[in-house]
Amino acid sequence: MLKTKLAGIKLKNPTVLCSGILGTSAAILKRVERNGAGALTLKSIGPQPREGHNNPTVIAYESGLLNAVGLSTPGYKNMEEEWKELQDIKIPVIASIYGGSIEEFVEIAEFVAEKKPSMIELNISCPNTKKHGQLFGFEPDVAGEVVSKVKAVSKVPIMPKLTPNTPKLKEVAKACEDAGADAIAAINTVGPGMIIDIETAKPILHFKTGGLSGPAIRPIAVRCVYDIYETVNIPILGMGGITNGKDAMEVLMAGANAVGIGSATYYRGIEAFSLVSQELETLMKEQGYTNIKEITGTAHE
Ligand SMILES: Cc1cc2nc3c(=O)[nH]c(=O)nc-3n(C[C@H](O)[C@H](O)[C@H](O)COP(=O)(O)O)c2cc1C
Repeated sequence: MLKTKLAGIKLKNPTVLCSGILGTSAAILKRVERNGAGALTLKSIGPQPREGHNNPTVIAYESGLLNAVGLSTPGYKNMEEEWKELQDIKIPVIASIYGGSIEEFVEIAEFVAEKKPSMIELNISCPNTKKHGQLFGFEPDVAGEVVSKVKAVSKVPIMPKLTPNTPKLKEVAKACEDAGADAIAAINTVGPGMIIDIETAKPILHFKTGGLSGPAIRPIAVRCVYDIYETVNIPILGMGGITNGKDAMEVLMAGANAVGIGSATYYRGIEAFSLVSQELETLMKEQGYTNIKEITGTAHE
């Protein structure tokens, strides 16, 4: 009943761990698998080893999380151990990559594709970099160029991850599809935002600003998935604030084929995957749906 497909990849249920939430360590990712995820995404892998920002990097506020982890990465050439251990994982593993230039995206994608992940997600949307993700994810022509150049060197499907922060979301999505993207992931965090500690009168995050995730951004995610579904014919991995089965159904109705679970692991623990799946299944039975395909895009009919 919960089976779905994303760019030809079969998922036993539509819940997918979002990138960056639980890192790249196989030990933790195996727990995600054991707790019922349909697929998992690795933390974004970059060109060189990078520490990321100083603590605090994540803060919870009343309706979500604010983070500026800062793309910490061991660097794509320093993950041999991780790749070896990840081979034991039976559910689809999606690699996520970022680069500081189109050439770096291509170089990393070529290397990572050889590790045979089920798919490569292109993080062209991180807001915690110098230009707040504007470099690749804001303009259709730039996003399209990243996708077409990566596509040329990768044998595995490519899924650009879009930012909700561009006013040209539909155009960016279309450019990605035209450039050969196999699926689209949306959304990355919203922002940047800031939270100030009124005792110290200083921003709490060391980086000062961060991207918003969790329940606060769900309506934005729903609108973005809705807009992307109207624009492209490739599958969508929808994410942003999905915390329970009802949220998952909403994003599926907007047009997603599978749903990312990120900040929900903060609220509900690693069990979030099986809980969201069970709740979704119950709702489907109540509403007379027999499979995920029937739900996808119903808000457009
Ligand atoms: C602590 C943290 C780290 C993240 N790191 C990444 C990352 O490395 N790459 C990426 O593409 N997205 C990253 N994201 C964004 C998430 O993958 C996701 O798109 C976003 O949080 C919205 O989903 P959610 O509301 O379910 O968390 C991160 C989010 C958080 C909260």
